[in-house]
Amino acid sequence: MRSLIDILDFSVEEINELIDTANDIIAHPDAYADCCKRKKIATLFFEPSTRTRLSFEAAMLELGGSVLGFSEAQSSSAAKGESISDTAKTISCYADIIAMRHPKEGAPLVAARAASIPVINAGDGGHNHPTQTLADLLTISREKGEIKNFTIGFCGDLKFGRTVHSLISALSRYEGIRVVLISPEELKLPGYIKTDVLEKKGIPYTQTTDLEAVMPELDVLYMTRVQRERFFNEEDYLRLKDSYILTPQKLLGAKRDLSIMHPLPRVNEISVAIDEDPRACYFKQVLNGKYIRMALILKLLKEAGRL
Ligand code: NCD
Repeated sequence: MRSLIDILDFSVEEINELIDTANDIIAHPDAYADCCKRKKIATLFFEPSTRTRLSFEAAMLELGGSVLGFSEAQSSSAAKGESISDTAKTISCYADIIAMRHPKEGAPLVAARAASIPVINAGDGGHNHPTQTLADLLTISREKGEIKNFTIGFCGDLKFGRTVHSLISALSRYEGIRVVLISPEELKLPGYIKTDVLEKKGIPYTQTTDLEAVMPELDVLYMTRVQRERFFNEEDYLRLKDSYILTPQKLLGAKRDLSIMHPLPRVNEISVAIDEDPRACYFKQVLNGKYIRMALILKLLKEAGRL
């Protein structure tokens, strides 16, 4: 059964096809309105979410299907001690596809092994978030015209930020990508991603703590939230939470065609004064996230023989 657990589960060609389908849905939404009639997505969210869960649900509704699920672990049988595998087997009796978010790294993979329907990883702990990456890739391709030959700065919590891990992994397969890692010392990108992804694939990268110093080099700036829920103590979070706050002043040295991205939710990392700047892309990312999830649901349901 084909699932999406890690962004590398899909080839570059498959991702390009998803981007093409998403662009076609954007151009002709009515043509897709009944594609998933009588199909159901189960959204199993063991961790908070606004965009990811509701975008999966909106995506399925716009395809003519319906949704079921839960939005907190406490309201599911996980609170009684049920295993992920048993939950996945149970939901396979009710739905056609599962989107699962879980605080434990690897939980969606465990679910995929037990389920008899496709499972989509909607974020597992501080590990991966492949569907945010699909939304990010669609956004980059729409903003830049193609996914190659650009310098992307990742700023903020690169240690726990799962969206950063998945996007770096995805970008390692495209040509001419340069990466600038901007974070406090304590929140640097995990060593395994540097060695297994950046170094192994020969992606040029630099590390810094100074956002303004590297601003002029960037074509894309990917801001992130400091991931409070992954910290072991509150003091460290409070000390690091406002390490980077993007203000109009800090953009003075930026390129005119910079794309400012953020997976959201933002806390303080981007001043609201930037929302009106034409370079701000974060709410476009939200909308693109719905369209690419529509394309993803169609692909996985077709491959499972359910469409
Ligand atoms: C991200 C996540 O959940 O990892 N949010 C999202 O899905 N768009 C980023 C975050 O929570 O900071």
